Amino acid sequence: MKGIILAGGRATRLFPITRGTCKQLLPVYDKPMIYYPLSVLMLAGIREILIISTPQDIGNFKSLFGDGSSMGLTIEYAEQAKPRGLAEAFIIGEDFIKNQRVCMILGDNIFYGDQLGMYLKRTVKSRRGGSVFAYNVSEPQRYGVVEFNRDKEPVRVVEKPKKPKSNWAVTGIYFFDKNAAAVAKKVKPSPRGELEITDVINAYMRKGDCHVEFLGRGMAWLDTGTYDSLMDAGMFIKIIEERQGLKIGCVEEIAYREGFINKRQLLKLADEFKTSYGQYLKRIVAHEG
Ligand code: TTP
Repeated sequence: MKGIILAGGRATRLFPITRGTCKQLLPVYDKPMIYYPLSVLMLAGIREILIISTPQDIGNFKSLFGDGSSMGLTIEYAEQAKPRGLAEAFIIGEDFIKNQRVCMILGDNIFYGDQLGMYLKRTVKSRRGGSVFAYNVSEPQRYGVVEFNRDKEPVRVVEKPKKPKSNWAVTGIYFFDKNAAAVAKKVKPSPRGELEITDVINAYMRKGDCHVEFLGRGMAWLDTGTYDSLMDAGMFIKIIEERQGLKIGCVEEIAYREGFINKRQLLKLADEFKTSYGQYLKRIVAHEG
């Protein structure tokens, strides 16, 4: 399965912070925001990844990750000229996806929780046309919301409904089969001028071919789109990391634990950071030794 991280957009709700840089490079406590969605793809076992961002910002992601080989990944890059919607990621990534299945994750989404790796790996293994993750939220009108039939089966997703029919928001991670680009190409721009991911999900749902995985309350799905939610996300990460002495979204650690790189390669990465982050990576090897 291939992975796409969509890391463009305008991030107008964070102005002036995001006037000169994109949101997904901003720090969430001790690492750039994009580390968190990248770590999710890696936990799913996905190693071939396309990062899509704006023409202005794409170079910064290249500086951050290069070709990905230091973490046992293959990372490619593509530009989205304008923020024309989430579904455009599949069209931009069509050549990259080729005829494989794909997992697309938004570059500003943070997932954290005990069973996360299990949910992800199980979804990758399943042979369904589409799979999305839903999460119970207090303000569903801000999201794509799952609607159910009388038998409590999910039947459609409605984008930012004024009167939401459930509290289940579709999170920013989407799994589709090889037809994702073809389906996205058939989507017409919405009144706000975007190719909506909900239209892609609904196309799969109409065929009865989209599974909804309901994430439990033990899972955290954090928002980073406003001053307060960005600060809260940073605090959340800091509190858990300090309490446990274990990092969240540490892509170098995950590369090692998933067997993408060996001890020598992890130590090389650790040497690049003369910070507590680098020391943490060294401790992982030392503790195992
Ligand atoms: P949004 O939250 O819809 O938009 P935004 O992040 O640009 O923020 P704002 O509302 O403050 O202007 O986007 C969700 C994520 O998807 C975010 O990471 C940006 C990204 N995105 C793209 O990369 N391309 C797009 O065309 C759109 C619409 C969003």
